[in-house]
Amino acid sequence: MIRVIINGCNGRMGQVLTRQIGELEDMEVVAGIDRVAGEAAYPVFTDAAECDVEADVLIDFSHFTAVPGIVDFCVSKKIPAVICTTALDEECQKKMDEASSVIPVFQSANMSLGINALAKAITAITPVLEENFNVEIVETHHKKKLDSPSGTAILLADKVKAAAKNAKNYIYGRHSKHDEFSMDNIGIHAIRGGTVAGEHTVIYLGPDEKIELKHTALSRDIFGNGAIAAARFITGKENGRFSMDDLV
Ligand SMILES: NC(=O)c1ccc[n+]([C@@H]2O[C@H](COP(=O)([O-])OP(=O)(O)OC[C@H]3O[C@@H](n4cnc5c(N)ncnc54)[C@H](O)[C@@H]3O)[C@@H](O)[C@H]2O)c1
Repeated sequence: MIRVIINGCNGRMGQVLTRQIGELEDMEVVAGIDRVAGEAAYPVFTDAAECDVEADVLIDFSHFTAVPGIVDFCVSKKIPAVICTTALDEECQKKMDEASSVIPVFQSANMSLGINALAKAITAITPVLEENFNVEIVETHHKKKLDSPSGTAILLADKVKAAAKNAKNYIYGRHSKHDEFSMDNIGIHAIRGGTVAGEHTVIYLGPDEKIELKHTALSRDIFGNGAIAAARFITGKENGRFSMDDLV
């Protein structure tokens, strides 16, 4: 039985994971950590320092400010960490790099199989198109999403940038821009509203033709499924830094 601690257990994704793991025979949630206490079938700690429950893996869907602390917690307890929270800065990435010499750290801004397959498609087609095609990325999310653009939009832009031979800059929105759109830029645009679980479209715009690669998340379960697969993947590993590239 794989024993799981969920950080951010009372949030939207924490609740999805609680339900999904509850349906599995080889995994159980043994504790939760959240800024706010809430009803759960497992003990919930509002301070990680008080969580003394033995576990095999921690899955985090919380807030970017909570991630450095939870990584320290995992290092001190030698618990493998699956970090799914988005909007992590350079300093936090460095902390996870350091932690990965002690524990396995799996991190991805998007845990869905489909998005990560789309990322592979970007790697394949960008070098073919880059001379003549501009690239724009448009994402839509529910009105309660706190960060913008989404971590996934940045993940996809990073894939374009990595696959392109020439350097690329990110341009967020087009307000007060009065110049021609340069081939050196990738435009990134965010739409917010309603209950949309997540939509990302990567658009290649060339002379007389346009290609759109679109992914639509029909429910949040896809992110929970990916987090569970990631948790299985790193449980029992010594240490190291892992991402969805290692799973897809
Ligand atoms: N990687 C992915 O595939 C993926 C998918 C969905 C969401 N996310 C990200 O996961 C995060 C959570 O998403 P959500 O929709 O569940 O958000 P949410 O706001 O519904 O839930 C976040 C939870 O974290 C808790 N929290 C906030 N600060 C905390 C702290 N310091 N310590 C412990 N708990 C804290 C909140 O109380 C809340 O219960 C966001 O960053 C979101 O972008 C990632």
